[in-house]
Amino acid sequence: MTESPLPATKKLFIKTYGCQMNVYDSDRMADALAPHGYEPVQAMEDADLVVLNTCHIREKASEKVFSEIGRLREMRDERRLNGGDLMIGVAGCVAQAEGDEIVRRAPAVNLVFGPQSYHRLPELLARAHNGARVVDTDFPAEDKFAHLPAAKREVTRSRGLTAFLTVQEGCDKFCSFCVVPYTRGAETSRPVEQVLREAEQLAEAGVRELTLLGQNVNAYHGLDSRGRTVGLGELCYRLSLIPGIARIRYTTSHPLDMTDELIEMHRDLDALMPYLHLPVQSGSDRILKAMNRRHTAAEYLAVIDRIKAARPDMALSGDFIVGFPGETDEDFEATMEIVKAVGYASAFTFKYSIRPGTPGATMDNQVDDAVKAERLQRLNELITAQMRDFLRSTVGRTLPVLIEKPGRNPGQVGGRSPYLQAVHMDGPERLIGQIVPVTIVSAGNNSLAGKIVTDAERNPDSLIESQATVSHA
Ligand code: SAH
Ligand code: SF4
Ligand code: F3S
Repeated sequence: MTESPLPATKKLFIKTYGCQMNVYDSDRMADALAPHGYEPVQAMEDADLVVLNTCHIREKASEKVFSEIGRLREMRDERRLNGGDLMIGVAGCVAQAEGDEIVRRAPAVNLVFGPQSYHRLPELLARAHNGARVVDTDFPAEDKFAHLPAAKREVTRSRGLTAFLTVQEGCDKFCSFCVVPYTRGAETSRPVEQVLREAEQLAEAGVRELTLLGQNVNAYHGLDSRGRTVGLGELCYRLSLIPGIARIRYTTSHPLDMTDELIEMHRDLDALMPYLHLPVQSGSDRILKAMNRRHTAAEYLAVIDRIKAARPDMALSGDFIVGFPGETDEDFEATMEIVKAVGYASAFTFKYSIRPGTPGATMDNQVDDAVKAERLQRLNELITAQMRDFLRSTVGRTLPVLIEKPGRNPGQVGGRSPYLQAVHMDGPERLIGQIVPVTIVSAGNNSLAGKIVTDAERNPDSLIESQATVSHA
């Protein structure tokens, strides 16, 4: 057999850590490499190129990278004994923050590149293939998104009706605990037309629900084709006009950037889901100040009041940090109080983790780990109870459910409520992709059981786009 003159397909595996922006980025890296013969594979063991798309937000997250590199090195060494090889890349926020340290500590790594370099990946890889150790952690002047190939999308039966779309990157807020302004750089917004074009392609591929992403997504201020600045509210409205796009979400928002325009859009635009991730981090004004959040607990609650006045069925999720330097028992009780005052549908809780280079790292009143652990446990108990209460509170309500996939048993389908809750119900698979009214009949630990309203069973086709007819009560 003679060898094919064409280069063999190379197999790519990207392991993603961290937030949804990394999930989106990993897909875009795969898109950037596809024209160069790289095909994604399901298992790391089958790959010729493994990219770790890393997260730097907490110490544990970033230490994982070095242990994973160790495993990859062993895999590569074994292959080399048999004449094979493995290319190892490190991308994402650890690459950006600790590129030089990775090069020093982990000689097995062939290339290190930050989140702003993904469009250069094919070129960086070509250099690495020639034997160079490549590091690219610049913040280039050119627009990465304009140089990346279009997002590829194939809607399969089980995945693909919902998609992430990054509209904003970076952060100028500099909360004193956080690495994001250093790893993702200054805040930038993608131009409106670029976002619309990507959303149109996603819609054409069958996507019905978009989640707009940004570290500070509600600070979005993209330019439209006339050079006018457009805020997130108007962007959501323009996206809702794209045929096929029925639901829009966005994450993560800062309380200071909840503008009137955006809040009014929650009142006026049915496609905007009544579920908002709005982290407050702490309920203590003293700690909020030390965190440089630039608002008080009362101001946060006032923002929520404004949102609920516009959209009474709005549910909230949040992020909390316990044990920030200087946090006393009293400060922590204030966090418990704000959680009680808001009543969250869901929340993420973290022990404060020292991040090198941030102001919090050099504060001299660090909190004992045992104290952090105890506070975390108390906070988690409260939040778990609230999550359970919220799940149960939907029993008896009729909610518009996006039917996403076949159910566990034949004759069943699975979907999502406006609050991202998984809902299981009897129904024909031809409903997949439609939004139908479902009466919630019971709540499990993490999901709901529902019944498609009788009308729907008789004539499912009449239910297409019935979302707007469901009241917000
Ligand atoms: N832009 C978002 C947060 C992005 S980071 C915002 O401003 O709300 C996601 C979450 O990680 C944060 O909300 C915070 O709760 C947590 N986090 C960030 N830095 C942390 C640190 N040093 N230690 C513990 N948790 C941290
Ligand atoms: Fe980090 Fe604060 Fe920016 Fe959020 S707003 S990404 S917590 S610096
Ligand atoms: Fe982590 Fe970077 Fe996201 S630090 S949370 S992957 S922006």
